Amino acid sequence: MTGLPTPQGRSNSFDYVPFRAVDGFVLDPACCTARGLGLAGASSSRVVICRLGGRFVLARTGTGDFDDAEIRHVVHGCGQLYRDVSGKPSIDDFARDVVQLVRSDACRGCPDLPTCCGCHEPAPRSYFLEDEAWLRSFIAALAGDVLDVGLGQVPYLADAGAAIQEGVLRLRGIDPDPAAARAAGALGVPVHVGEVETFDAPAGSFDHAVAIRSLNHFRDPGRALAVLAHVLRPGGTLTLIESLALPLVRTRRQAELSHQTAAGGFQHLRNWDSTPVLALLADLPFQVTRHRPIGPDTCDQWIVQARRRA
Ligand SMILES: C[S@@+](CC[C@H](N)C(=O)[O-])C[C@H]1O[C@@H](n2cnc3c(N)ncnc32)[C@H](O)[C@@H]1O
Ligand code: SF4
Repeated sequence: MTGLPTPQGRSNSFDYVPFRAVDGFVLDPACCTARGLGLAGASSSRVVICRLGGRFVLARTGTGDFDDAEIRHVVHGCGQLYRDVSGKPSIDDFARDVVQLVRSDACRGCPDLPTCCGCHEPAPRSYFLEDEAWLRSFIAALAGDVLDVGLGQVPYLADAGAAIQEGVLRLRGIDPDPAAARAAGALGVPVHVGEVETFDAPAGSFDHAVAIRSLNHFRDPGRALAVLAHVLRPGGTLTLIESLALPLVRTRRQAELSHQTAAGGFQHLRNWDSTPVLALLADLPFQVTRHRPIGPDTCDQWIVQARRRA
């Protein structure tokens, strides 16, 4: 009736299970053990090398939810890989449940990197927590009429608390999930229960809109962004943050447990990076003011900010 596509869930993570430790591995572009193992010219990321606790371990993904090109894009192109340290079947606290693995320094200057699976080791610091710190300060500085699209449990409400109390910030939300809407309502945030694609508000009625990790849940991102262009005033801002599919190094037992508990429980309708979003924004009255793509030294989320043109 709405003309929106029927949702078809997509898995948003895939597992790598360690299957072999390689003693005496030499990680050096001049004489790397990866070449002898046939990993340097494979152009595949189905097997990756991880340096974990001082040992070099090979880990493999057998996922059928993602094809080779998608796996290569996420792990090699975007440099994303995480070790599940949760001991739980599912990840629900990104800051604690995973350790990011980044491309080893030796690989960064290696001529074989374009075709090698590459070696990965624990990141020197948490890129996710750096993004969180930025997001919290961004939210704390918001003022005016703000629309939180797909606000869920409103995890950043405390950061906006002072501005709301002072009357500087008037926060409203949209979420089609009645439970999320009830929870946000109980916290004092007025929520429209429904999808952003069909949200009806007067033109220019918001100063800012944010969609934090919700765009890959929208049935029709193009229509959603057109609605946001309509409800934002000229000069108003749009902030989008969203994550890619999550590649997880985990034990076979953890992988099996997670598959049992996740049966039918897809979270994303797609796993877009920022590229298609920039293409959609280019056809709308938005000027992109910041683009932070996903890369080897970021966590698995991209950030796009845009200004509503007059
Ligand atoms: C992963 S949660 C993110 C929640 C919150 N923004 C956060 O950062 O924790 C995605 C949210 O988007 C909502 N959502 C899904 N489809 C939507 C749509 N078409 N319009 C608005 N929100 C939507 C879901 O109900 C869910 O609450
Ligand atoms: S990219 Fe890394 S793992 Fe691959 S051959 Fe070069 S140094 Fe070795």
